[in-house]
Amino acid sequence: MKKFPNNFLWGAAISAPQSEGHSLTNGKSASTWDYWYQTNPEKFNDNQGPTDTSNMYEQYKEDCQRMQEIGLNSLRTSIAWTRLLPDGQTVNDEAVAFYRDYFQEMINHGVEPIVNLFHFDMPMWLMEKGGWEIRESVDAFAFYAKTAFELFGDLVEKWTTFNEPLVHIECGYLFEFHYPAIVDFKKAVQVGYHTLIAHTCAVKAFREVLPKGQIGLILNISPAYARSESLEDKKAKEVSDLLNTRSFLDPAVHGEVPAALITLLKEHNLTPMTQTEDKQLLRENTVDFIGLNYYQPRRVQAPENPAFPAKMPSDLYGHYDWPEKKINPYRGWEIYPEALYDVAIMMKNEYNNLPWYVSENGMGVAEEERFMENGMIQDDYRIEFMQDHLAYLHKSIVEGSNCFGYHTWTFVDCWSWLNGYRNRYGFYRVDLDNNFARSLKKSGLWYKELAENNGF
Ligand code: BG6
Repeated sequence: MKKFPNNFLWGAAISAPQSEGHSLTNGKSASTWDYWYQTNPEKFNDNQGPTDTSNMYEQYKEDCQRMQEIGLNSLRTSIAWTRLLPDGQTVNDEAVAFYRDYFQEMINHGVEPIVNLFHFDMPMWLMEKGGWEIRESVDAFAFYAKTAFELFGDLVEKWTTFNEPLVHIECGYLFEFHYPAIVDFKKAVQVGYHTLIAHTCAVKAFREVLPKGQIGLILNISPAYARSESLEDKKAKEVSDLLNTRSFLDPAVHGEVPAALITLLKEHNLTPMTQTEDKQLLRENTVDFIGLNYYQPRRVQAPENPAFPAKMPSDLYGHYDWPEKKINPYRGWEIYPEALYDVAIMMKNEYNNLPWYVSENGMGVAEEERFMENGMIQDDYRIEFMQDHLAYLHKSIVEGSNCFGYHTWTFVDCWSWLNGYRNRYGFYRVDLDNNFARSLKKSGLWYKELAENNGF
């Protein structure tokens, strides 16, 4: 039996824009997703937009019972900035009542809410001014963060500022998967820098409002593995880790941007605009914990035709198609649980053994209805996926990594950006043709047993 530490968090993660629905009613203003869907619905898989999503706005009470039924003792969700502060300044009282009741309901069912502030859902009023490209976004975010801490700090002990900051940067400014869908490496770096400073200012506000609480940052972690031991391939691994891991992890935990990253950006004329007080802000506002979302590793090799100055990250590290990789046939992503052990040991050795947790890990499956038998999705593939990852996580904990929990993506099937409802991840299936009715999958039963035994 692999036993996990006492009080280990067995949870799931979800986010406001992907699960609440009611995205343009009840006082909420438009995020970039609402705007993009209104103007370009054809971009979204099956024309599925952000308007309805999984209807937790109406079903949260029953959902909190469902959380308890599958043994969750925590859930990470987010607050929608555009619901709480529709114009950036004025508090929406209905939103306050909703979130307070939702968090209280979780607590009543033995589920600790972990609350995140930004999950790719930029308010449209701010995007119209320039979004994360302008320094003003930092103050706007810090105000929102402070407001949330004041309004919900008595119910929520653990907070996080951003989910996967690299994703809104890359997808919005390099890969065209998020609005404004432009390709501009220099702007991407500026957006990244303002996101980092916004995170830091939110941590500063947190220390003032909730000195006894804990605050962290959630990063998508895709550790790089080099094609070979050659100097060039090893260099590609270093650069990938610098851009994709250390860019946010080092400042969040150690209080400074890595010198090697500053040099690399300078060499490629990508240095962002900064302010003199930023260094001190970073130094003084490090986090209490880190959340790592792990899905798949990154296989890299020296870029074949490096452009100078770099126009895309692929000019700095090349993608390597590892022939031996095991693939999730229902989503196309590599399955490599060993990497979870590697990042856990990295947290131990390189990041002061700071408390951290797996804030997302899960298996997406397209057309999952094909696995429905006797009214239940028989998702044995998902159980195997979790078990394999947990075995490596357990090994790292035995070796001293300071991991305090495991959250799967996700609790109920949810809407996922341009992918709509294509890839299903939940413990509960959501029926889109029947008012988002939920039905338990086999993995939910397995998770309950796992949580009850605190191991497997
Ligand atoms: C995570 C994000 O990285 O991936 C979620 O935090 C997202 O917001 C999830 O929904 C799954 O993504 P996809 O592309 O498989 O639907």
